Amino acid sequence: MTSGKLFEASNLGSLSLSNRVVMAPLTRARASIHHVPTDMMATYYAQRADCGLIVSEATAVDPLGMGWFKAPGIWTEEMVEGWKRVTDKVHDGGGRIVCQLWHMGRLVLPDYLNGEVPIGPSAIAGEGETFAPRSAQDTGLLLPMKPYVVPREMEQEDIDRAIESYAAGARNALQAGFDGVEIHAANGYLIDQFLQSKTNVRQDRYGGSVENRARFLSEVVDAVISNVEPGRVGMRVSPTSERKGMGDENPAALAEEIGRIAQTAELAYVHLIEAIVSGFTEKPEHPVMANLRRSYSGMVIQNGGFDAHSANQFIADGQADAISFGRPFIANPDLVKRMKAGVALSAPNFDYAYVGDEKGYIDYPCYGDCHSETT
Ligand SMILES: Cc1cc2nc3c(=O)[nH]c(=O)nc-3n(C[C@H](O)[C@H](O)[C@H](O)COP(=O)(O)O)c2cc1C
Repeated sequence: MTSGKLFEASNLGSLSLSNRVVMAPLTRARASIHHVPTDMMATYYAQRADCGLIVSEATAVDPLGMGWFKAPGIWTEEMVEGWKRVTDKVHDGGGRIVCQLWHMGRLVLPDYLNGEVPIGPSAIAGEGETFAPRSAQDTGLLLPMKPYVVPREMEQEDIDRAIESYAAGARNALQAGFDGVEIHAANGYLIDQFLQSKTNVRQDRYGGSVENRARFLSEVVDAVISNVEPGRVGMRVSPTSERKGMGDENPAALAEEIGRIAQTAELAYVHLIEAIVSGFTEKPEHPVMANLRRSYSGMVIQNGGFDAHSANQFIADGQADAISFGRPFIANPDLVKRMKAGVALSAPNFDYAYVGDEKGYIDYPCYGDCHSETT
């Protein structure tokens, strides 16, 4: 048996959690080809409803920000209806779920935009390649890969549209029954592209100083909290991440500025990706949690390479209020139960991480009995 603060109840703003185990957002690409959430997704999330909080997979707020085959969106009524079935099932299982609001910015391939180039803060391409779409008939496990392209530098009207899309996404999320929203400002997507100096070389009030680079985030936060009470709004950040060609000249100062924005807005939480071991993301050479804390006294969810032991330790040491787990949730729908019981975790089959249907998605066995809601 493992005990400890990880399994104790907690409040993140207005969200009351039955434990401090958070399911990290995981893109699994099981929506329809038109980005509508499916019943299979409802089953998947309901299987994991006993964690304190589920953060949904990244969910696009605008077709211009959607560049992932079969990832969900939340800009149409049909998408809202699809999500409603997911949130209902999670709530039936006693869970809480927030919607991660997403815009991919420069990382959208033109293939998703009828050949148009994507938008970004500056005309700088992402590094590497990503999954291109394929036809509905093609059910193979291999998605074609294509390199990122140079985006079009956003004009003020593009910025205004993007901000309004986040606001609309937030409104739609409430309509879909989510308990709140998480603004995705991490992992090299649009907001992160504005935040970090390597991807933002703008000369206007959205570029240059750290305050200017954080202006877009700040305006998104303001737009979202005019639609959802701040106690139900969190933000996810990764100021030290260098994936996909990201990089910042001073991540410590950036973290402090991010903290200031969260503090001023009285957000429910900041979800910081700062891996404690390298793996999915690199363990940062200079962690910025202490810098975030200089300006932010609210709740923090930490993420990146945790297990039950390190999670308990972090919470006990006051370094986090809750811990999110990503990869461990893929093959362990009953992760909370397993961690409590000290039972070994199953290993995920990453072939099915981003593609496929039920297999490798909702068929991972539980230790003991699964939730009745899963059937
Ligand atoms: C299959 C997969 C999909 C992911 N999708 C998202 C996502 O949609 N949004 C996001 O912010 N992070 C995403 N991540 C990152 C995870 O939320 C998390 O930060 C990462 O897995 C590290 O945490 P872990 O060590 O507990 O796995 C994804 C990671 C994986 C492995």
